[in-house]
Amino acid sequence: MPLLSPEERERAGRFHFEHLRTSYIAAHGAVRILLERYSGIPAAEIQYRFGPKGKPSIWPAGSLEFNLSHSGFVMLVAVAFGCQLGVDLEQVRPVPELRDIARRFFCEEEVAELETLPVDEQERAFFICWTQKEAYLKATGEGLSAPLDSFRVPLGRAKADLRVHGCTLLQLRSPEMPAGYVGAVAYTGDARPVCVMRCIDCADLLG
Ligand SMILES: CC(C)(COP(=O)(O)OP(=O)(O)OC[C@H]1O[C@@H](n2cnc3c(N)ncnc32)[C@H](O)[C@@H]1OP(=O)(O)O)[C@@H](O)C(=O)NCCC(=O)NCCS
Repeated sequence: MPLLSPEERERAGRFHFEHLRTSYIAAHGAVRILLERYSGIPAAEIQYRFGPKGKPSIWPAGSLEFNLSHSGFVMLVAVAFGCQLGVDLEQVRPVPELRDIARRFFCEEEVAELETLPVDEQERAFFICWTQKEAYLKATGEGLSAPLDSFRVPLGRAKADLRVHGCTLLQLRSPEMPAGYVGAVAYTGDARPVCVMRCIDCADLLG
């Protein structure tokens, strides 16, 4: 764990299950290596500050921003200069109460759109909707402390400007992810190319 800060080491030590601890260490080490490449700050010296709801960013603040998401042993990291970022990654998996969960958390139009899809497409669409919403809330830094039905995402559309209160607040993308996963990235400001370099599998990284 030489790259991790004392706080990260302490957090790693709190995981009850070995595989979760290993995954956390690999993910946070990989993020530091990635941030070193973009910031020029040695990986072990990178410091973070945290927003009121726990969103991490590099300290002292510059224009480099990042955000990350884990699902199983796969993580998604987004890095950009000069905008706020949020990402979410989910493994597409059976959800027994999918419609009930959608009705509880999504807004009416999203539920209606979901229910018009063929049943075998609903699972993936559900996770696309979920990741887009969570990416949005991670870009704003609010996380799931804000209600998921307080804004609408364009379900199933991979590329969209998200308009909130009549102004364009965020760009939303669902880039191609490894088989079995869906992911979304939300960022502030004008549209810019989203370059998917590669998704890091923590098990491979440790291999
Ligand atoms: C952020 C949040 C949506 C992540 O949920 P998740 O699906 O379990 O986790 P993901 O894998 O997608 O993302 C986790 C990463 O997001 C980042 N993150 C944490 N809080 C964040 C926030 N408020 N906004 C954006 N990103 C955040 C961290 O890098 C975290 O990685 P780590 O746990 O390895 O340090 C959820 O933890 C949340 O809603 N947090 C805020 C809750 C809150 O109100 N806290 C108040 C007390 S601090």
